[in-house]
Amino acid sequence: MKLETLELIAYVWLGIAVAVHVTMFFITAPFGRHTSDKWGKSINNKLGWFIMEMPSLLIMLYFLFWGTNSFNSYVWILFVLWILHYVNRTLIFPLRIKPTEKKMPVFIVANAILFNLMNAGLNGYFLAELSTKSAYNENWITSPSFIIGFSLFIIGMLINWKSDTILINLRKKGDTGYYIPKGFLFEFISSPNLFGEIVEWSGFAIMAWNLPALTFLVWTFANLVPRSKNHHDWLLKKFENYPKDRKKVFPFIY
Ligand SMILES: NC(=O)c1ccc[n+]([C@@H]2O[C@H](COP(=O)([O-])OP(=O)(O)OC[C@H]3O[C@@H](n4cnc5c(N)ncnc54)[C@H](OP(=O)(O)O)[C@@H]3O)[C@@H](O)[C@H]2O)c1
Repeated sequence: MKLETLELIAYVWLGIAVAVHVTMFFITAPFGRHTSDKWGKSINNKLGWFIMEMPSLLIMLYFLFWGTNSFNSYVWILFVLWILHYVNRTLIFPLRIKPTEKKMPVFIVANAILFNLMNAGLNGYFLAELSTKSAYNENWITSPSFIIGFSLFIIGMLINWKSDTILINLRKKGDTGYYIPKGFLFEFISSPNLFGEIVEWSGFAIMAWNLPALTFLVWTFANLVPRSKNHHDWLLKKFENYPKDRKKVFPFIY
């Protein structure tokens, strides 16, 4: 595929992200606490996470080991960071979440597979097949964009992991209830896990500094900002004593 073709696909995909972002303020994505029978056939929640995130992990592993340019420069660092995130999301996160009766609609799994095929496909293909050796050379790993982006990625990932851990630990074994999360960034926002994920992919986009990485950041933002609103509204409705001064996803802002 030529660079122009990939860029055209990325721009169309960006346009779809904007449309999905607006739509998600009107239609709540039905998984986790928002799941619903209205969306047709459902599967086990843990299995759903595993199946829908696996394409991203496999695609990036494929391009890392079988891509043309993956080891010709320091571009492998970007692959390793992506893979690290998706090893957690695909293999570790589904094992850690507490089993409940809640199921995941096949509709969500199918949409997430498309999301992962497109985002990992665009990023993996660009980095392995179209990026130039000079873009990710010795100068890159000492450049401000690498240092700032890498730091943000690691900070975002740690925030995401810690916040997911706090949420998962709210339930004891066999418990399926909901509780008000406290401590850490939960004192400021309802969804620090989603905030961490947005910080993470902002860091990746700054580090990689290319169109597919920007596209993935826009998609992450497009999905997670409305989801944070759904979570926040749900918590306010569920708990009368939910702290009213907490923001949704960006501390002090939104
Ligand atoms: N890149 C993307 O576009 C994207 C999209 C979606 C999610 N994600 C990531 O995937 C992860 C999960 O996202 P999510 O929105 O599904 O997370 P979430 O609703 O915050 O839930 C995470 C886990 O904690 C449990 N939980 C949440 N709030 C709870 C409470 N108040 N009391 C007891 N248990 C609670 C949930 O149980 P229930 O399942 O019963 O609610 C679930 O097992 C996050 O790290 C997020 O960043 C990324």
